[in-house]
Amino acid sequence: MEWRDRARQGFREAFGRDPAFVADAGGRVNLIGEHTDYHEGFVFPAAIDLRTLAAAAPRADGRIRIRSGNVEEVRESSVDVLQPPGGFPPWWAYAEGPFWALREARVPIPGADVWVRGEVPLGGGLSSSASIQVALTALGAALAGQALPPMEVARLARRSENLYCGVPCGAMDQVASACGLAGHALLLDCRTLAIDPVPFPGPWALVVADSGVRHAVAGSEYARRQQECARGLAVARKAFPEVRTARDLTLDHLASIRADLDETAFQRLRHVVTENDRCLQAREALKRQDGSALASLLAGSHESLARDYEVSCPELDLLVEIGTGLPGSLGARLTGAGFGGNTVHVVDGEAAEAYREALFRRYRDRTGRETPMRIVHPDQGVRCLPLATGE
Ligand code: GLA
Repeated sequence: MEWRDRARQGFREAFGRDPAFVADAGGRVNLIGEHTDYHEGFVFPAAIDLRTLAAAAPRADGRIRIRSGNVEEVRESSVDVLQPPGGFPPWWAYAEGPFWALREARVPIPGADVWVRGEVPLGGGLSSSASIQVALTALGAALAGQALPPMEVARLARRSENLYCGVPCGAMDQVASACGLAGHALLLDCRTLAIDPVPFPGPWALVVADSGVRHAVAGSEYARRQQECARGLAVARKAFPEVRTARDLTLDHLASIRADLDETAFQRLRHVVTENDRCLQAREALKRQDGSALASLLAGSHESLARDYEVSCPELDLLVEIGTGLPGSLGARLTGAGFGGNTVHVVDGEAAEAYREALFRRYRDRTGRETPMRIVHPDQGVRCLPLATGE
């Protein structure tokens, strides 16, 4: 069944009537450029064909009623009273937040019945939460009679995640989910938000491998990394007033202030500097279809995330180690925030299925975990369509 029929059917089963609009938005995989987006650096993600489906119909009474295909509970509220819940975000914050962000941006949303179902594995570092918020931002705007440009959808979805859900993420996930282009990875400059779409080479394939690990510390450690970098940045700014964010730093800057930096701050900032450089080099490697250059950049990224940024874990390291030893490997690394979740593997397309199976078996044999390993494809960003009743 086509995505819009599945969305319509989900909505019908939830509310017993037809939706006015259906939407879907991509999860994302990041090829390289990790923990750089909130430093206004460079990232290289692609929206993927693991997606979130959603549908909505307007209500005249200003109520927002949310049903999710992933949880039993129904959430009801009113547009006028939406307020960030504070604390650890409950599931419905990700669905309600977009309506709050739209209201704050003076988009005149009516009430709505909303149905959403995430088909992106939850909490796996593939942007399940961003895809929910992107799909619902587009839907909420459509109910208000506005077709927002994808970048504006991404901006509001990020406000929802930062301010409604209280997650201090950068811009990468929402931009990838909203602005993705089928068959392309997007080199995104997180300072200017300029996107350079680069075709993903036809002969190559992408495998995402779930470690099966979800660390509860991920949220607090993510915020801690930002603080550690801010500490180092304050020192750097004293010496180099032209430096605004870690994106402006060079290895020479870091060498000259090393004595004034604590070792942790030094390592964190070194990761950001070297990762931005690897990300830009990876764009060129992808354009040249230079698999061996890409493999060494991905290896460098994983190593730097593990040693300097300290966001890996033994299971992610193991997936990378197994994957890079398999035939057809063009490099692997952890993707997303880390502390568990998924690794991304670039693979020779002809070897992809055998690679996926071998990775699954060897990881299972070493850890006892049977976790999903999927071949994914760079896909388009958010789609939102009106649905004529009776169609
Ligand atoms: C999470 C955040 C992103 C980004 C990555 C790390 O996915 O949501 O903004 O910071 O971690 O690169």
